[in-house]
Amino acid sequence: MRKEFADALSRIARGEEPDKASLVILLSAQPGEEEEALYREADTLRAQYVGDEVHLRGVIEFSNHCRRLCHYCGLRAENKNLRRYRMKKEEIVESARRALELGYGTVVLQSGEDTWYSAEMLAEIIAVIKGMGLAVTLCVGERAREEYALWREAGADRYLLKHETANPRLYQKLHPGMSWEERITCLQWLRELGYQVGSGNIVGLPGQTLEDLAEDLLLLRSLEVEMAGIGPFIPHPNTPLGTYPAGSLDLTYRVLAVARLVLPWAHLPATTAVGTLSPNGRQLALQRGANVVMPNLTPRQYRADYQIYPGKICINEGPEDCRYCLEGMIRSLGRRVGRGPGHSLRYLSRITKN
Ligand code: 5AD
Ligand code: FES
Repeated sequence: MRKEFADALSRIARGEEPDKASLVILLSAQPGEEEEALYREADTLRAQYVGDEVHLRGVIEFSNHCRRLCHYCGLRAENKNLRRYRMKKEEIVESARRALELGYGTVVLQSGEDTWYSAEMLAEIIAVIKGMGLAVTLCVGERAREEYALWREAGADRYLLKHETANPRLYQKLHPGMSWEERITCLQWLRELGYQVGSGNIVGLPGQTLEDLAEDLLLLRSLEVEMAGIGPFIPHPNTPLGTYPAGSLDLTYRVLAVARLVLPWAHLPATTAVGTLSPNGRQLALQRGANVVMPNLTPRQYRADYQIYPGKICINEGPEDCRYCLEGMIRSLGRRVGRGPGHSLRYLSRITKN
C-alpha cells in the first residue's frame, strides 16, 4: 500500500476535514490492498453512523416527459423514439397505496422535468399521500422557489436534485440551456425551506477527471446533504453521448466509499445504475458504504418507457417482485430492512436544535 494512501485514509476516516489532494489519492485506490482497506473503512463508518438497517424508498416514475436536453439522458426532449406517458393523480395515489401495503415508509415521486403537472396538482397529490402516513420525497427537477415552498407546506419531506457534476464547465457542456449556478441556487432554496436535501453525481462522464470527482465530494460535504446518489454513466444510444464508454463500476464503488468517509451521516443509495452494470452491483455497494435501496414501484405498463439509460433492471418485474427481491438481498448480507420513515440523523439533529 502506498504510504500516501494509508495516510490519507487514516486522516479522512478519522474525520479530518478533507482536502482535494487527499480525496484524489483515495479515489485512485489500487485494486487489492488499497481498495480493500478503503471498502473496510467505508463499511465500518456506515455501521457506526447509520447502522445495519437498509432503508427502502419506493420510487414512482410518474411521467417520462421532459423539457430538458441533458446529453446523457434517454428522457431528453429530443428523443423521439420514446413512448411518453403521464400517470393520472389516481394512478399515482394507487401506487403509493401499494407502497404502504408493501411496508415501505417513503415514496419517491420522480419524473422528467414535466411542467404539465402544475405546482397545485402536485401539492394535492403530496397531501393525499402524506395523509396515508408515508414520507414523501420529490425528484422533479428545477422549479420556482414558490413551488418548492408550496410542496413543502403540502407535507413533502425530502427533495432530490442531483448536481450531476461539480465541474461548471462540464455541466454547461452536458446541459444545454441550463446553468450550474441555478442548480446550486435550487439546492440552497430547498435547504432554506426545510427539506431533507439529496444531491449527487454521475461517475465516468466523458471528460471527467478524478479531480472533478473530488470536487463532487467536497460540494456534497459543503451542502451537508442528507442523501447522495452516486451512479455510473451508462450510454444511451439515442443521446449525444451514445457512443461513449460506460463509467467504470470500480471507480463508482471508490467514489461511493469515499463519500461514506466524508459524509458519514448521509443516506447513500446502492443505485439502480450500479445494479444495471452488474448483477451483484447493489450488494457490493451496500458493503462499500451504501445503506439505502430504491425499489421500483412504477406500474408494470410504464416501466420500460422510463428509460433514462438502456438495460435498466426490474423492467419485467412488478412492485411486489422488487419488494421481496430486496428483502432477500438485504438479509443475505446480514442486514435488516429499515422500519419507519428512515429520516436521517443529521436531519433529526437539525430539527431538535431549532
Ligand atoms: N447514465 C447514468 N445516469 C443517468 N442519469 C440520467 N441519465 C443517465 C445515464 N445515461 C441519472 C442522472 C439523473 C438521474 C435521474 O439519472 O443523475 O439525475
Ligand atoms: Fe426489482 Fe430485484 S429489485 S427485481
